[in-house]
Amino acid sequence: MSTDNSQKPHDRLAARLKTQMESVNALIRDRMASRHAPRIPEVTAHLVDAGGKRLRPMLTLAAAQMCGYGGPYDIHLAATVEFIHTATLLHDDVVDESTRRRGRPTANLLWDNKSSVLVGDYLFSRSFQLMTETGSMDVLRILSNASATIAEGEVLQLTAAQNLATDEAVYLQVVRGKTAALFSAAMEVGGVIADAPEDQIRALFDYGDALGIAFQIVDDLLDYQGQTEATGKNIGDDFRERKLTLPVIKAVAKADTEERAFWTRTIERGKQDEGDLDHALALLNRHDTLKETQREALQWADRAKHALSFLPEHEIRDMLRDLADYVVSRIR
Ligand code: IPE
Ligand code: IPE
Ligand code: MG
Ligand code: MG
Repeated sequence: MSTDNSQKPHDRLAARLKTQMESVNALIRDRMASRHAPRIPEVTAHLVDAGGKRLRPMLTLAAAQMCGYGGPYDIHLAATVEFIHTATLLHDDVVDESTRRRGRPTANLLWDNKSSVLVGDYLFSRSFQLMTETGSMDVLRILSNASATIAEGEVLQLTAAQNLATDEAVYLQVVRGKTAALFSAAMEVGGVIADAPEDQIRALFDYGDALGIAFQIVDDLLDYQGQTEATGKNIGDDFRERKLTLPVIKAVAKADTEERAFWTRTIERGKQDEGDLDHALALLNRHDTLKETQREALQWADRAKHALSFLPEHEIRDMLRDLADYVVSRIR
């Protein structure tokens, strides 16, 4: 490989897809503007200028390249996917009452909830305009299904939060919906636009699905054991939001009477005092649930890598393999 091996896999993929990503970023800049409502470019520029890893558009470009695509629409699809992602982030930070994103104050904090919701809607609509330009009904079907599934996942999480009866099956459903659906769709449309055979499209989907699940499990771990400087987000948000993420679900399942009373008070009744986050962390450590959760993330990364074995040999395929390792290495 001509690229530098000391780089992170996601940087290597970015370097490999540099020219296409520049076109994607130019298209994003062009379409995130608005001639009629100045608030729109203010909010979108705030979020887009902050960067973000651009993982999902890279997946689309990678899938299209691996399947031998030579046309112009992988750029549109990659921008579409990033718009859907950005729209969900704007909405998600309102729902989660988050104050930090991509190392900056969130749009809901800098402007207000109304702006975040409406600009999020604008970006969703722009994403649909972009995808229709490809002229592919399959693409429309896949990405509109994914958008509905993301919304379902977020709403399911809303009702699962604060409920100690939430189990690992519900958690998986939430994560698959709110996060993995876009990863799998991002991969799938890359294959579809390239007219790849059915079994390869299935493999692309499976990779995205498993990678997305691993990614969100890691995100949930980092919410307890990450560093704000590294994640660009606040630590402990999930506990404050009373979310039942995997480490907590596992700890609740192992709780004795006293521990259960703690979870009932803090998560179900929302009565949280200073020191409660530290105590929650102590309980997660006592039952080793952070480690167990990490093991599950590793299993999903393995599944992602396994899916790649159904795709033809390709330099980008190897990068996607490394990317699966990288996603889970953020917690080691
Ligand atoms: C954040 O996704 C939302 C989750 C699914 C956890 P990313 O971590 O990919 O966000 P950016 O785009 O890099 O900021
Ligand atoms: C991210 O959910 C999924 C979506 C944005 C749909 P989270 O709420 O877990 O992600 P962060 O931690 O805010 O990025
Ligand atoms: Mg959030
Ligand atoms: Mg959320």
